[in-house]
Amino acid sequence: MAAADTTQVIPVTEAAVYETSEQTTNKTKITNTRDSTLSEISRQVDAKISNFREIVDRIKDQYSDVYVNGIRVSISFGWDAKKETDQDILKVLKSAEDNMYKHKIIENESLRDNTISTIIRTLHEKNPREEQHSQRVSEICQFIGKAMGLSEIEVSRLKVVGLLHDIGKIAIEERFFNKPGKLTEQEKNESSRHPDIGYRILSSSFSMLDLADYILAHHERWDGAGYPKGLKGDAIPMVSRIIALADTYDAMTSERSYRNALSEAEALAEIRNNSGSQFDPEIARIFIEKVLNKPWRVVE
Ligand SMILES: [Fe+2]
Ligand SMILES: [Fe+2]
Repeated sequence: MAAADTTQVIPVTEAAVYETSEQTTNKTKITNTRDSTLSEISRQVDAKISNFREIVDRIKDQYSDVYVNGIRVSISFGWDAKKETDQDILKVLKSAEDNMYKHKIIENESLRDNTISTIIRTLHEKNPREEQHSQRVSEICQFIGKAMGLSEIEVSRLKVVGLLHDIGKIAIEERFFNKPGKLTEQEKNESSRHPDIGYRILSSSFSMLDLADYILAHHERWDGAGYPKGLKGDAIPMVSRIIALADTYDAMTSERSYRNALSEAEALAEIRNNSGSQFDPEIARIFIEKVLNKPWRVVE
């Protein structure tokens, strides 16, 4: 029993044909092996299941370079087999479908889109400090998401978006980000284009489209004084508000070419002081109290 999916459940002809012949073959086999032990039948079914893997690999191979409107075709598969005569066939189908969705999520998470993963790899190879920063931002975003009680899907979206948030830096001169000392006004303007560039890179891929908006807004501020649009409060997507906090916390607590890292206490004082101006006050409080297990207000 096989299920395949691009954006919804669509049976793939080859898998469906296989399923029909599979059922026929199994019926014949079961009749012919009436004297066989149950474990022998089960072994044969297991061997057949492993054949699905080969079929799936073959179909994936055939579609690996097929594009529709410039977007690479992506297909996810799931399979299961009816091993006992009293097993409900609908439950087997449901299990095949569940497996397909599991694969789909895993494949999305692993940044299937070749172009985007090449860009992020190039950026990280050029600048390993960026890679470590993105990894830490991704982790902090996940901690905040979990502390906020977000769903598993939303937390895994935060994981990916944390990793990709600065992808637009690929088009910005590297020396700006490694410069000892503060940036000039002109350099600041140039480097502040990276959310916009990141948006354009991600919106070129259908599967990354929803992430593009979050990346565009990751330097917006709660009070509206951020960039590129100057969005304010709830008008900033929640995911972007989470990235903004994780990003600033990591930047403050890491060594930079022009200053030493802040201690945790100093960084927390900054977050408290800028809660309601730079940061969403609710997210700031959840981060301090639930993620870092620190009191919101320090008793002097
Ligand atoms: Fe950024
Ligand atoms: Fe960043």
